[in-house]
Amino acid sequence: MSRFAGQSVLITGAARGFGELAAERFAAEGAGLVLSDRDAAGLDMVAARLVRAGHDVVFEPGDVAEPELSRRLVALAVTRFGRLDVAVNNAGIVNRPARIPDIAEDVARRVVEVDLLGVFWALQAQLAQMEAQFREGGRGGAIVNLASVAGLVGAPTLSIYAAAKHGVVGLTRSAAIEYARRGVRVNAICPSFARTAMVGDTLRDAPDRDRAEADLVRGVPMRRLAEPEEVVQAILWAADPANSFMTGQAIALDGGITAY
Ligand SMILES: NC(=O)c1ccc[n+]([C@@H]2O[C@H](COP(=O)([O-])OP(=O)(O)OC[C@H]3O[C@@H](n4cnc5c(N)ncnc54)[C@H](O)[C@@H]3O)[C@@H](O)[C@H]2O)c1
Repeated sequence: MSRFAGQSVLITGAARGFGELAAERFAAEGAGLVLSDRDAAGLDMVAARLVRAGHDVVFEPGDVAEPELSRRLVALAVTRFGRLDVAVNNAGIVNRPARIPDIAEDVARRVVEVDLLGVFWALQAQLAQMEAQFREGGRGGAIVNLASVAGLVGAPTLSIYAAAKHGVVGLTRSAAIEYARRGVRVNAICPSFARTAMVGDTLRDAPDRDRAEADLVRGVPMRRLAEPEEVVQAILWAADPANSFMTGQAIALDGGITAY
């Protein structure tokens, strides 16, 4: 199946986790890739592996909190592939769990700058390019933002992260309506805790890892973490050109949490 044959796909946070796996899956389905991450060495390794496997990949390291990076990545897609078909705004960070009074000012600012404003800068650059493509040739694009189940319900000890991710859902819905007749679909994927390094880092710091993992999944009806593959297949589905009537949605992949 080659759902993305001939399409150009931009992915941030591509050095590991969902971003790395999404890069592999989009490439396997025929896409050319524009990859970015602030971890330049990790990005280099992922890109080199994909190029060795015969895929068409360009990459540029950088911090999504810098608006200029988003503009450069869109320009890179246009230079290499002539257009931008899909953008996956995936780069993100989480605060170390703490109640609101105990979250340091610099941590709070950084989470908002990366998780919320990073997506805003990305949308500014990507929507303008996709709308221009739509006007010129009738084909716009699809944007998938990585929010979180913490973008749909409260997340004690992750308050500032939850606030930023609620913001991503707000941006997603607003952009979807603004661009509904301008050729761009915008959706958000909202996973609960998944087995990536982001969650591994949190568990590693815990005195009893098994207990910490059991605590994480206690409120999940399926009583388990999500596997990265389960999240990435939903990213591809949201971006799939066949999924052409879905926009403005915040899709929970949460083992049933939000079904309560
Ligand atoms: N893993 C989970 O349980 C989970 C759950 C819900 C939502 N999410 C969201 O999914 C996305 C990806 O999560 P993951 O689990 O793959 O995380 P991860 O930590 O495994 O990978 C994130 C990648 O983003 C990069 N990154 C971080 N800050 C960046 C910045 N400022 N600029 C550029 N790159 C940056 C990191 O270097 C890393 O390679 C994030 O937005 C995260 O909030 C994750």
